[in-house]
Amino acid sequence: MSESIANMKRTDMCGDLREKDVGKEVTLMGWCHKARDLGGLTFITLRDRTGEVQLVITPESSEEIRAKASKIRSEFVLAVTGKVALRSAPNEKMPTGMIEVNVDDLRIISESETPPFYIEDDNTANESLRLKYRYLDLRRPVMQNNMILRHKIAKSARDYFDEKGFLEIETPMLGKSTPEGARDYLVPSRVKNGSFFALPQSPQLYKQLLMLAGYDRYMQVARCFRDEDLRADRQPEFTQLDLEMSFVDCDDVMGVTEGFVARVFKEVLDIDIELPIKRLTWKEAMDRYGSDKPDLRFGMELQDISDWASGIDFVVFKNALENKGLVKAVVIPGGAAFSRKEIDALGEVCKTYKAKGMAWVVPSEQPRGSFLKFLQPEDIASLAATTGAGADDLICIIADNFKVTHDSLGQLRIAAAEKLGLIRKDDFKLCWVTEFPMFEWSEEEGRFMAMHHPFTCPMDEDLDHLESDQGSVRSKAYDIVLNGCELGGGSIRIHDRALQMRIFKLLGFSEQSAQEQFGFLLDAFKFGVPPHGGLAIGLDRFVMLLTGAGSIREVIAFPKVQNSSDLMTDAPAPVALKQLDELGIEVRQSEDDADSDNLVMD
Ligand code: AMO
Repeated sequence: MSESIANMKRTDMCGDLREKDVGKEVTLMGWCHKARDLGGLTFITLRDRTGEVQLVITPESSEEIRAKASKIRSEFVLAVTGKVALRSAPNEKMPTGMIEVNVDDLRIISESETPPFYIEDDNTANESLRLKYRYLDLRRPVMQNNMILRHKIAKSARDYFDEKGFLEIETPMLGKSTPEGARDYLVPSRVKNGSFFALPQSPQLYKQLLMLAGYDRYMQVARCFRDEDLRADRQPEFTQLDLEMSFVDCDDVMGVTEGFVARVFKEVLDIDIELPIKRLTWKEAMDRYGSDKPDLRFGMELQDISDWASGIDFVVFKNALENKGLVKAVVIPGGAAFSRKEIDALGEVCKTYKAKGMAWVVPSEQPRGSFLKFLQPEDIASLAATTGAGADDLICIIADNFKVTHDSLGQLRIAAAEKLGLIRKDDFKLCWVTEFPMFEWSEEEGRFMAMHHPFTCPMDEDLDHLESDQGSVRSKAYDIVLNGCELGGGSIRIHDRALQMRIFKLLGFSEQSAQEQFGFLLDAFKFGVPPHGGLAIGLDRFVMLLTGAGSIREVIAFPKVQNSSDLMTDAPAPVALKQLDELGIEVRQSEDDADSDNLVMD
């Protein structure tokens, strides 16, 4: 039977009580974390969002209270009134551990079945079970802290940007599907059968139109939707702290962004970030770290050893250099101690990134290595001198084209740092990466694609070779990187209609198709466009990195799993035929799996 909280007003939160409250009469409400009956003496830990406190029911308590107390199990919802007293045996692990509450009134507000897993921080239940019962998982203090921190960052964003003169303006969820970027989530129209809205991948075009409309400084805590393969730092539904400014250049947007990032670090973790944040050009980031999102928490930079390799009679090096590739190395300190199996595992990392193989050398007195028969003792000595490697170190070498060499050594660098324990979650290293290439060659599409998006402005210095040397054009794009993760990205936009048409053409749009897809933007560009630029920070990623969570799912209240489904509600799910009829949609059973409920749309 459940009792009511009528005539009972909560006076305090469980986690707030301290020694100063001794003697005070309090009314608390929350969940029973644990109840222990020690024969007449019952201890209950009561939990709410702020923490836990111990309740005591003694043999002197009324019979009614003792009878109720004996029924209480984990996760029952209770309301109690009692007096705060000093504990005879303090518990130093609990913030409220100096005190306890002697219960005078006890009500069982709601009973609970035995939960499928313990509501505890060091819960070992598998993630699928936790996600199926997410509302129970969210009761765990660690999850509640993640949600509180998330709220604080969003609030900090609203306060900071408000102080800087930004307006929060909402943009539509139901928009138009535009090509480029990830796959869209589509929403069928009932009124116009056969036509579809797309959920926004970001508010990109709307925020540009707001600049054109004269709103000057815009921000939004914006929900975004992208139908792409999920990873530890990607969800199909996520949130951006999105901003756009008029009459600005790169430095203005980067300056206002780093002020915000520094403020969050101070407010949330009391860490002072040194401003301005270090900047690397894309080229420098690739050359030194093999990545456009370098992790600066450790060294082991990539080194170009093409000159040295050109003097070695080794066909792998020769082929790479003859094909306009390069030969680069990473020196792993202390790596000489790695077993053959451990070195092979590093080679496997490189192979995942399309390297054909990894060559290695330990330049000790009795050298070891994968291609020693091609090396004279003086070659090993000069390699050690060139790379600064010592006898205890392992030199890992990749010879291939620019992309494969950098991708594979960049990942090897991270794998080696993880192995050596050099990556600390409580160490925060930020940097900007600037001057991204404007275009990126897509093997799949057989054409150049926009590296950021097609509205990014090329660098003024490179405008004259837009058509003649597309691959070398750099853009006014910038990413902010935290511990090897892309925290945010943005750019200065094109505000000139003719230049925008030139870019569309280079991306393979005909005049007509550009007009069909982006006509509203091109039309708008006829009516006075201010120079503008902006950026979006991934809120989920920011919270993930600040909390040290292992996955983005830990900082989203109701996330999706690998196949983009929700284990709690079972979405996506089939819908009633009537709903489909109204939308003019016919669904057919998947041919691959005719008797499953795996439905695909025509
Ligand atoms: P971009 O696509 O780089 O830029 O996205 C900006 C930031 O959003 C976060 N992010 C994601 N977070 C979780 N799951 C995802 N699937 C996901 N995709 C992106 C990242 C990323 O840095 N309109 C531009 C911004 C601009 O130019 O102003 C944009 O969306 O942290």
